[in-house]
Amino acid sequence: MKRAKIIGVGAYAPRRVLTNPELEKMVATSDEWIVQRTGIRERRIADPSEATSDLAVKAGLQALAVAETHGSEVDLVVVATCTPDHVMPSTASIVQNRLGATGAGAMDVNAACAGFVYALNMAAGLIESGRAKTVLVIGADELSIYLNWKDRNTCILFGDGAGAVLLKAGDEPGIMSSTMGSDGSGAGLLTIPGGGSRFRMSANGKKPVGQYLTMNGSQVFRWATQMMTGAAEQVIASSGLNLEEIDLFIPHQANMRIIESTAKRLGLAPDKVFANVDRYGNTSAASIPIALCEALDKGLIKVGDNVVLTSFGAGLSWAAVALRWSAEIPERLSPWVPFRQTFETRVAAVRSALRRQQRRVGTVIDETLHRDS
Ligand code: ACO
Repeated sequence: MKRAKIIGVGAYAPRRVLTNPELEKMVATSDEWIVQRTGIRERRIADPSEATSDLAVKAGLQALAVAETHGSEVDLVVVATCTPDHVMPSTASIVQNRLGATGAGAMDVNAACAGFVYALNMAAGLIESGRAKTVLVIGADELSIYLNWKDRNTCILFGDGAGAVLLKAGDEPGIMSSTMGSDGSGAGLLTIPGGGSRFRMSANGKKPVGQYLTMNGSQVFRWATQMMTGAAEQVIASSGLNLEEIDLFIPHQANMRIIESTAKRLGLAPDKVFANVDRYGNTSAASIPIALCEALDKGLIKVGDNVVLTSFGAGLSWAAVALRWSAEIPERLSPWVPFRQTFETRVAAVRSALRRQQRRVGTVIDETLHRDS
């Protein structure tokens, strides 16, 4: 049986930094409260011109560059997101086109903040079963557009970003074990109710209903600490490891108190727990791949290390993965990479334009022939 291993990683966070002191001017909060209760100091906010797919493409290109792989070699592009560009088409299709991944299928996965680990797990399954050889998994979200900036319970928590991994079939693990779960009885605890089929446009057809993210923070908090611990213990046990063999634990970056409490329950030393929630806030499906990239940049993961990823989110949903790190990530990419990738994405855009033109011409020819017959 083939095993799935990560051979490339990438991350992108929008340039705009929103700090706690700036939030103090927008809503009744304080830097002190936010830092004490969440550990968050700043977060990144996407420019109105940047859609989720724009962030996803940047992270995806980096993962491909690190793995020295071209988009055309990818079999499947999965984008984990709960803030897609559109209801349809999938954000993954837009990303697939822009990356020039001409031989790839594409789909979105929505498990909110747990989406990236869900998608990673699913991609690993496709590789292990032989149905795919190379899969690009991207977590990308822009929850900032669903925040009510007058609601201090939620607007201080979230940020925007994207992270990606490229998975390839190999003989050694790779992804060793995984778990996924859901408890829909908690669906109302964390929700963006509008935009779907339950709450439609208001009678005049103009005002969107339920466009803001709402959350019962304390209940999500209590559930998350228990769930993160259980899921981590499960994947550690099913990979045949014990706690002492875990080199790095990368939990979903939602709140420093949840991270610390989970680490304490697991009995993990603080130096084995990665956190960057202070600089990004909760970036939803992007949180774990962004953290993974930073951990690698800081030299905290070496070939042969055992790493555990755990995530939780709206649904309620959760997922965890235990993996053995097996790729040497180059410290610096060749200076030609940006030029090559700009060229490749332009070629992809031209090919895309030609295909649109070809479809238009094809339709005209078909209609003319049909009229004549
Ligand atoms: N600034 C100042 N005061 C605030 C703020 C704020 N930003 N937010 C809430 N408060 C107040 C509340 O109004 C409350 O005041 P009151 O006692 O007068 O009513 C008080 O602080 C305490 O509120 P709690 O909600 O009990 O505070 P808590 O310690 O639980 O912290 C928090 C709130 C940070 C939201 C925490 O519950 C949490 O992090 N929960 C988990 C959230 C989470 O992880 N969500 C992401 C899931 S992933 C996904 O799928 C998107």
